[in-house]
Amino acid sequence: MNKQIIGFLLVCLTITGFVSCSSSSFDDIVANRRSVRSYDKSKKISEEQIRTLIATSQEAPSWANVQATRYYVVMSEEKLNQVLPAMLQNKEKASMAPVLIVTTYKQNQSGFFNGEPSNEIGNGWGAFDAGLSNAFLVLKAKEMGFDTLIMGLRDADGIKRALDIPNDETVMSVVALGYGNQVPKRPERKSLFEIMKIK
Ligand SMILES: Cc1cc2nc3c(=O)[nH]c(=O)nc-3n(C[C@H](O)[C@H](O)[C@H](O)COP(=O)(O)O)c2cc1C
Repeated sequence: MNKQIIGFLLVCLTITGFVSCSSSSFDDIVANRRSVRSYDKSKKISEEQIRTLIATSQEAPSWANVQATRYYVVMSEEKLNQVLPAMLQNKEKASMAPVLIVTTYKQNQSGFFNGEPSNEIGNGWGAFDAGLSNAFLVLKAKEMGFDTLIMGLRDADGIKRALDIPNDETVMSVVALGYGNQVPKRPERKSLFEIMKIK
């Protein structure tokens, strides 16, 4: 084989290798992300890393691009201790995480036009957008080597008080972020047959 053919084959192998790696990496992240309920609190996360994470979360689609999701990143020991009592059944799990990210949405923005709800879902669209933002967040966190736990069981009023969250915001999830020290098994998913209908 002459040098040109060898060179051509090498370029092809590099390109196909790159394409297959980059297309499988998303699936790997999805497959490896788990809800982790125990963290090594001594392993810290930097503000720079948090900014990278939230910037990706913000790339999630939102109603008319209103970007109503808000993030309260709790990482000082003082504030973590103030939020913990509001974590109810999740208190012990939350206490192990070095960072808790409270996500809220600003009311009457997502799903609204000129101050009126655009359809029957109303502020449900704010919750929907926050969920999308959370999905981007937990997947990006996994890509960055972190683990997460989305927590819906929390005392919203207690969290609002601890973090001075304005009244026009609805508290959604608290996301624990850190380096997990357990590898949970994947909870079974329902069959596609059960959840999907092609019409
Ligand atoms: C909206 C929402 C609320 C959740 N709330 C809690 C919670 O309060 N406590 C908890 O331990 N897990 C909570 N989870 C985690 C789920 O139990 C978990 O995602 C589910 O069992 C599937 O496991 P996996 O995330 O490892 O795939 C919540 C997840 C979501 C999406």
